[in-house]
Amino acid sequence: MPVIETARLRLRGHRQDDLNAYFQLHADPAVMRYWSWPAWTSVEQAQDRLSQVIGQRGANRVLCWAIADQGDDRLLGSIVLFAINREQGRAETGYALSSSHWGRGLAQEAMAPVLRHAFDVLGLRRIEADIDPRNAGSCRLVERMGFVREGLLRERWCVAGEVSDSAMYGLLAADWRVRAR
Ligand SMILES: CC(C)(COP(=O)(O)OP(=O)(O)OC[C@H]1O[C@@H](n2cnc3c(N)ncnc32)[C@H](O)[C@@H]1OP(=O)(O)O)[C@@H](O)C(=O)NCCC(=O)NCCS
Repeated sequence: MPVIETARLRLRGHRQDDLNAYFQLHADPAVMRYWSWPAWTSVEQAQDRLSQVIGQRGANRVLCWAIADQGDDRLLGSIVLFAINREQGRAETGYALSSSHWGRGLAQEAMAPVLRHAFDVLGLRRIEADIDPRNAGSCRLVERMGFVREGLLRERWCVAGEVSDSAMYGLLAADWRVRAR
């Protein structure tokens, strides 16, 4: 699990002592509004998921970083590369940041080195993001990173009885390298 330092953040593996912050993140209805499962209501849900995330470290299809404060190392969010398929050169990304930290450019700051890792270290060719088209912040974030909206998959999700579409975004290594120059 590579630790990545940026100006304000430290991307590192999740730890057991992240439990409370990890629960608060996923219990916040604002953060979970367009997520693929409903907001958590009990800390046991956080513990189950956290154990899974810690346990899958070292597996070669998922890389999940805690987005931590550079100063005190407390967890502010998570960012993941999942469905990593080395043969096909692709992976998907997902991310969440505590709502009290939105609008400060932190998601962009976290995503840039994760993309660099995906393309330069893992040698992937394509990163995908599946976003509810109503999720303006997430759509804007990936567009800022150079992702292209490639299509709309209708009624792809049903979360707590609410059916929603997926805007499918893709970023190619070649396009990212041109932008990074
Ligand atoms: C999506 C998310 C990570 C963005 O985090 P953030 O740190 O506020 O994003 P940034 O500050 O880096 O902003 C990225 C861009 O999106 C824009 N943006 C952020 N939130 C926005 C919103 N609600 N509406 C419109 N634009 C928004 C920013 O202005 C910025 O664009 P700019 O550089 O042109 O000004 C955060 O809103 C979040 O955690 N949402 C809940 C979880 C989620 O939905 N995850 C994605 C599931 S697909």
